[in-house]
Amino acid sequence: MLYTPITFRNVELKNRWVMSPMCMYSCENGLANDFHFVHYGSRSQGGTGLIMVEATGVEPRGRITNHCMGIWNDEQAEKLQKIVEFIHENSESKIGIQLAHSGRKGSTWNNVQIPIEDGWETIAPSGIPYHPTERIPHALTVEEIEEQVQNFKNAARRAVKAGFNVIEIHGAHGYLVHQFLSPLSNIRTDEYGGSFENRIRFLIEIVDAVNEELNENIALFVRISGTEYAGNGWDINDSVELAKILKNHSVDLVDVSSGGNIHGAKIPFHAGYQVPFSSKVRNNAGVKTAAVGLITEINQAEEILQKGDSDLIFIAREILRNPYIAVQGSFEMREDCFFPYQYLRAKISI
Ligand SMILES: Cc1cc2nc3c(=O)[nH]c(=O)nc-3n(C[C@H](O)[C@H](O)[C@H](O)COP(=O)(O)O)c2cc1C
Repeated sequence: MLYTPITFRNVELKNRWVMSPMCMYSCENGLANDFHFVHYGSRSQGGTGLIMVEATGVEPRGRITNHCMGIWNDEQAEKLQKIVEFIHENSESKIGIQLAHSGRKGSTWNNVQIPIEDGWETIAPSGIPYHPTERIPHALTVEEIEEQVQNFKNAARRAVKAGFNVIEIHGAHGYLVHQFLSPLSNIRTDEYGGSFENRIRFLIEIVDAVNEELNENIALFVRISGTEYAGNGWDINDSVELAKILKNHSVDLVDVSSGGNIHGAKIPFHAGYQVPFSSKVRNNAGVKTAAVGLITEINQAEEILQKGDSDLIFIAREILRNPYIAVQGSFEMREDCFFPYQYLRAKISI
């Protein structure tokens, strides 16, 4: 199944391999540069079905560090467009972008909060820091929440203009959207806090606003944390309920990761540790999903798809080690995969 195409709206992915979004902390002023051109371009030469550009801030405070990617102005979108065009002209890969806001987890370097004069005052649904030693984030007013929804919408418009095939909203890992979802980071008493319906409101408003910028040629994915590994926190049943609602709001795929919102939460890392969350969301909510997390082997990826645990395989660290994993897998499995014509002599092993 790894090499069976799949279509979201009119976007056909040639295979099920997805380069998972990964911050590279290598931008100045949020601008992509030659590093990103080579970094993403090489994965397209490796046959990856979909390349997801790293978490990209929808406003300056939406970055995690001062060196994260941004798409809050046209210059940033134009730099990204060059990468998009290269990939479209020189491969069969599709390219997506993860739109993100770090919320209370911003203004850091190496996961440590940096002084306000070198960073910024962070924002969150409620004035609760991620770690007790951190500054108290500014709790957004309703008007400011609306501005954030607009920031996602503006970012989506720029991404569409730049030619991206997929937009992914980052709703996982304890960043701003996740902060709203969780009753442990969101203790608001207005329409954005309290009940499940209220806590998901921010995400649903973003989804609707972003969808207004999309058409049948651009698919919409949402990444969530299936659970945050904390009693009384966001859990897999919440994720299933959310996924049903996202489906009704024209979200094409739910990318199921986990954790990130609760400092010190115990995460049981092992091969494919998040696959059961993807499976549960896929089979109980009837949505397409992606599995991610310690998927490193070609046969392991194939088995996940065969078992019906996910529709796509997101790989992160393994594709940093092996940018050519999609081509390599096709070679081993005798399946057809894009191969740069310049490299065709390597398609035959003798
Ligand atoms: C260097 C690095 C940067 C990451 N940045 C992001 C990011 O921008 N957005 C995101 O959703 N996840 C991010 N992640 C998480 C990965 O996308 C992925 O979910 C995680 O690494 C588990 O997959 P793996 O075991 O294949 O590495 C990052 C991971 C790494 C290693």
